[in-house]
Formats: sequence, C-alpha cells, structure tokens
Amino acid sequence: MLIEKNISLKPLNTFGMNVVAKEFASVETKQDLAKILNTNLSNLLVLGGGSNILLTKDVNALVLHINIKGIEIVSVYENNVRVRVAAGENWHEFVSWCLGKNYGGIENLSLIPGNVGTAPIQNIGAYGVELKDVFISCEAMNIQTQELRTFNKEECDFGYRNSIFKEELKGQYIITSVIFELSSLQHVIKKKYGDIESELKNNGIENPTIQDISKAVISIRNSKLPNPKVLGNSGSFFKNPMISCVQFQLIKNKFPKIPHYKVSETTVKIPAGWLIETVGFKGKTFKNYGVHNKQALVLVNYGNASGKDILELSKKIQEAILIVFDIVLEIEVNIL
Ligand code: EPU
Repeated sequence: MLIEKNISLKPLNTFGMNVVAKEFASVETKQDLAKILNTNLSNLLVLGGGSNILLTKDVNALVLHINIKGIEIVSVYENNVRVRVAAGENWHEFVSWCLGKNYGGIENLSLIPGNVGTAPIQNIGAYGVELKDVFISCEAMNIQTQELRTFNKEECDFGYRNSIFKEELKGQYIITSVIFELSSLQHVIKKKYGDIESELKNNGIENPTIQDISKAVISIRNSKLPNPKVLGNSGSFFKNPMISCVQFQLIKNKFPKIPHYKVSETTVKIPAGWLIETVGFKGKTFKNYGVHNKQALVLVNYGNASGKDILELSKKIQEAILIVFDIVLEIEVNIL
C-alpha cells in the first residue's frame, strides 16, 4: 500500500479546506488497514467522506482515507432484508442502490454527504429518520490491537447526532462495515415532517412511494442546503440545543414565535438555525466565508477561506446566542 507524502486534503473534505497531510494512504481492504495500523499507531487521522470535519491547519500525521467498498445482502426475510455495506461506500450512492432495489427505510436520508462507515458515529438524521432506525450492527477495528469487534445497536448507544464512537470510544475504533435492515415489501412511509408533506402536496402526490419520498427530500435539501461540490460546507455546523421548559418559557415571553420541539416533559429542542437568524447572522458574508442565506445552520466557504476563519465566525455566533438567549450552542462538526 502506497503512503504518499505532502498531499492536499482539499478534494477530501466537503468544506474544501486546502490543508496538507504530512502522509496519506487510501485503504481499500481490512487487511491493509490492520497492516498499516500495526506499524503506525501514533499520529493518525482517520478520514471517511470528509463531510463532518473542519480542518483548521495542516495535518502533521498519517491520514487514512477509508475506501473499503462492497454491498452484499446477508439475509432475506418475508418483509425485510439485511444488507452489509463496507465503510467506504458513499452514503447517497447506497441510498440510491436501495431505491433501485425497492428497499425502504433510508429514503428520508437521501443526499446526506459522507460515507457509510462514518454515518453511525454521529447517527446521521434528517426529515424524521435517524440511522439508528435501520441499524442492526457494525464491525469496527480496534486501532491499538487491530481486532475486529461487532457492535449491536444497544452497544452503540445512539443519541441525537451522537454515539459511543463520539464519547467513551472516541478515537479507539475504525468502523469497517455496517449491517442495515430495510423493508422489501411493505414500506413504512415517513412523511410527517412538515417540509415533506408540503413538497408532496405541491407535486399532487397523495400516496407516496419510497422513491417519491426520496425525490421530495432531494428537492427540499437542494432548495435549502448548498451542494458541497459547488460551495464548501459541512451541513449543520451546530447541534440544535436542548433547553429546559422553564428557560423556554422565559425566552418565549420575549420571542413569542420561537419554534420548538418537545423532547420530554422537561426539555425542548430549539432549531439553532432560528437562533442564528434571530441574532442577525443569516446570509452574512465576511470576505470569502459566511452563513448560508437559506439555512443559517450552515457555514460556507465561498473559496479559499481558512478553517480558522470559519471557526472564528462560529465563536462569534456562539457568543451572540449566549448573550441574547443564554443558550450554549454546541458545535456538531469535528474541529481539527
Ligand atoms: N430555521 C430558521 N432559520 C433558518 C433555518 C431554520 O428559522 O435559517 C427554523 C425554522 O423554524 C425551521 C426550523 O428551523 O422550520 C427547522 O429547520 P430545518 O427543517 O431546516 O431543520 P434544522 O433543525 O435546521 C435539522 C438537521 C439537518 C436536517 C434537517 C431536516 C441538525 C443539527 N440538523 O436541521 O441535518 O437535514 O433537520 O431534518 O439536527 C446535518 O446534520 O448536517 C443536517 C443538515
């Protein structure tokens, strides 16, 4: 396996940050992964689709690009199939593969950038569905020992944009494949999310197929979220914050129109996009970077911005929201 030196990571991160990796290797098999880990244990950066990372400086490490490919059906039941997907498969290409075979469950997750192997780390989610809803297990390699271990759903401890791989086991495992369970006969159509209902209505669709849902999601995403191939970004830069009902009432007295979702009897989730828009950052441009004008949760690189610029901007946004709302906005992307 080739280890290259001084490689630009620009094409490998969706923010399009032009930083240089001291060493770089594209890993195509589990055997190669074990081999390379066995001899290069320290100073590693593992890169999947590069869609959830902000690179603020050159990477003085060996960057491993996980490029293991393959999709296989592992079991077939009356109404379901289980599919094993290698970590390096592109997420949306896998969604399209499922739609082509009429396998349901991830159509609401259409067009999410990134790879299959990194999707469980942050439990990707959109339009009423999260990865955990179709997840059965994943196989991951221990970086220290190179042993392979299977994690079931419980062991992954999935939460909102979170899993054990972002918490206790952070930096300890590399996911090599994921098994999903998808419907093959009777699909559960999830169209409750407001934007999906209105998109279907606009197109005169009353009884949508999974393919219709995917088209609706693609159309909504294209209308709000910038295509990273055109405009560098990393999707939602922050998590939607959870606050107590008591704090929510206090804010609501000042901002009666504040949107919110009830999470439990004591907690509500507030769309960070609304908070950012309300403090005046939506659509703001600074030199060659800024806040997207159609979805304030997305920070964008208009060309040759640095990761440090974007990080500075995110700090200004966090400060403004802390002052106005007394809410701490948590960054969702990994900062390096
Ligand atoms: N809103 C504003 N201004 C904005 C953006 C949003 O006021 O500029 C308010 C509106 O009230 C809107 C509400 O926020 O109704 C929700 O907006 P949206 O449906 O766009 O969803 P979101 O909460 O901003 C989350 C995910 C997205 C996912 C969408 C759809 C997080 C951090 N983000 O965004 O995920 O696509 O829901 O399900 O949970 C990502 O993780 O990269 C991502 C794009």
